[in-house]
Order: sequence, then C-alpha cells, then structure tokens
Amino acid sequence: MGRLILGIDTSCDDTGVGVVEDAPLRVRANAVRSQLIHQGYGGVVPELASRSHLDHIAAVAQRALDQAGCRFDQFSAVAVTAGPGLLGALLVGLNFAKGLAQGLGLPLLPVHHLQGHLAAGLLEVPHWAPPFLALIVSGGHTHLFDVAEGASGWHYQLLGATLDDAAGEVLDKIARLLGLGFPGGAALARLAEAGDPRAVPLPRPYRGGLDFSFSGLKTAALLAYRAGCRPEDLAAALQARVVEALIKTLRRAAHQTGRSRVVVAGGVAASAALRAALAELPGLEVSLPPPGLNTDNGAMIALAAAGRDAPAPDPTLGCEARAEWGLGDML
Ligand code: KG4
Ligand code: ZN
Repeated sequence: MGRLILGIDTSCDDTGVGVVEDAPLRVRANAVRSQLIHQGYGGVVPELASRSHLDHIAAVAQRALDQAGCRFDQFSAVAVTAGPGLLGALLVGLNFAKGLAQGLGLPLLPVHHLQGHLAAGLLEVPHWAPPFLALIVSGGHTHLFDVAEGASGWHYQLLGATLDDAAGEVLDKIARLLGLGFPGGAALARLAEAGDPRAVPLPRPYRGGLDFSFSGLKTAALLAYRAGCRPEDLAAALQARVVEALIKTLRRAAHQTGRSRVVVAGGVAASAALRAALAELPGLEVSLPPPGLNTDNGAMIALAAAGRDAPAPDPTLGCEARAEWGLGDML
C-alpha cells in the first residue's frame, strides 16, 4: 500500500476532508459537507462559514476516515488549503490540520486551492506532463494558465482571468434571481434543459484577448428577467453564453500558445453543457475531474500534495493562511 495523505479544504462554504493513497494514486475517501446556512442570504456569509466549519470539521474528518477504512495513525502527511479563500474559513481548516500534524507527528503540507482543483482535473491523465493549458472555472475564479515545466517544478503563467465576476458567480446570481437557491449553477443547468437559448437574446461577453468579463452579461440577464422572459429560456441563454465565452477564449489560447492539451477544473467544470462543448473542440485533448471532485473538496488537496516529497514535520507549524495568493507566487 502507498502512503496515505489526509486532505482538508475549508476555503469557502464546503467543509471537505479526503483521503488519498499515493501509489497508485487514488481517492480512498471524499467527505464534503456543504453549508446550506447561506441559502437565505444569496451568498456566502464569511462569519457564518467559519463557525459552521468549526462545528462540523471533526465529524467530516471522521466520516472520511470511516469511508477510507483507516485510522489517524496510518497517515503519512496532512495536506490543507492555506489559501486563497475566506480568511476565517481557511483558519479553521489550517488550525485543525496543524493540530492533527502536531498530535500525530506528521508533516503539514500547505496547498494552494487552485492547485487542488488542477490535481483533480489531472487525476485521470497521470501520463500528462507540461506543457498544457489549465482553465479553472468556479464561483470564485475564472483563470486560464499556461503550465510549463520550470526549473523548480511546474511554472504557472496566468494568461487571462475574469475582469469582474467569475463564471460561477454569474450563474449563481441569476439562479438566485430565479429563486433556485444558492449556489445555483447545477439547478440553473437543470432548468436550462427545458429552455430555448435563442428565445432570449443576450450579448456575447467575448472580449478578444484572453481575459473574461461576465458582468455585462449578468446585467443583460437581469434586464431580460425584468422584461418577463421565460425562466427556462433565460437559463438556457445564459448558460450558452457563458460556455461560449469559455470555449472561444480557450481556443484562442490554444492557438496562441500552440498547446494541444487542456485541463478544465473547478465547480463549473461539472456543467454538462460545458463538458459537451469541450468534447467538440477540434485538436484539443481535454481532461476534467471525475464526478465528485469538481466542486470544493478535501481529496483534491491531498491529490495536489501527493505529488510532493513530504518534508520533515515542521515543529513550529509556521504556515499561515493567505486570503489572497496568486498561483504563480508560490512556485
Ligand atoms: O469550485 P467551487 O466548489 O467553489 C469555488 O472555489 O468557488 O465552485 C462552485 C461553483 C458555483 O458557482 C456553482 O454554481 C458551480 O460551481 N457549479 C456548477 C455546477 N455545479 C456547481 N455550475 C454549472 N453546472 C453545474 N453542474
Ligand atoms: Zn474552489
């Protein structure tokens, strides 16, 4: 049996604890508790998120161990999201991880949240090596990277990002407007199945470079809603426009860089419409996370850490949470 790594993510509103075995690389457990508490507010309330993580993290960790059929003393390392994310929420996971690492005498491996999403997207293509493109689409990010082999590990060059709202954020805001709860990306996708995307003319948010911009689309969707369009048509039109913007920019990036592979990850990578459009991209090999690893979770954090040589345990446990943390900054 390979080494067992515990992975923890509390960067936003999901309390995630996962167990990964590193050789061969596989997910042994992935326990996630999504916080419903934010539904009434239409967005994540940071203070409520931190408290809820605190109330539930121990039980979620126990659930992960039960799923994996292992004990705490069998782990080789504890991996945890150190950022970016909501500071108070990050601190709960980080301190829980520090306590475990200290108590068990294990190394603590701080992981960048986006590296976790990427690791989930790469799980099914262990033979891939850089260079390739990486598109992270979630409620907080719409970031496009070129991943290359650097002198000391992988090098991430940010090619483009959203200038305003993230793709998932737009889906969530319009889903909320339609009374679909929060986060509403998946519910909006279900509603869109019954709609006609051509029935609501929304502008193309495509800009021409490798950046994204979704706020104009959001406003147009709001106006169309107020004008009384059918909710299912609005959902279908919005989804089509978001997918189109992602695909067009991806094609442009592939053309500019000459890359032929792309990994797409983050919560919005669960979108069936996006997956269908990606499958039709000519000349681009695409890798996506398996079910259950698209939205935030702890297993992806352990997966990201599994590729690293475990350092000796740090007795000072000096790692700090970083609410803002560019992926390029750390590698
Ligand atoms: O990665 P994630 O869990 O959290 C962040 O790091 O932000 O992503 C959450 C986002 C939300 O905006 C949610 O609406 C969206 O992913 N999402 C989806 C689907 N499932 C989750 N969007 C479209 N289709 C889905 N099936
Ligand atoms: Zn995320």
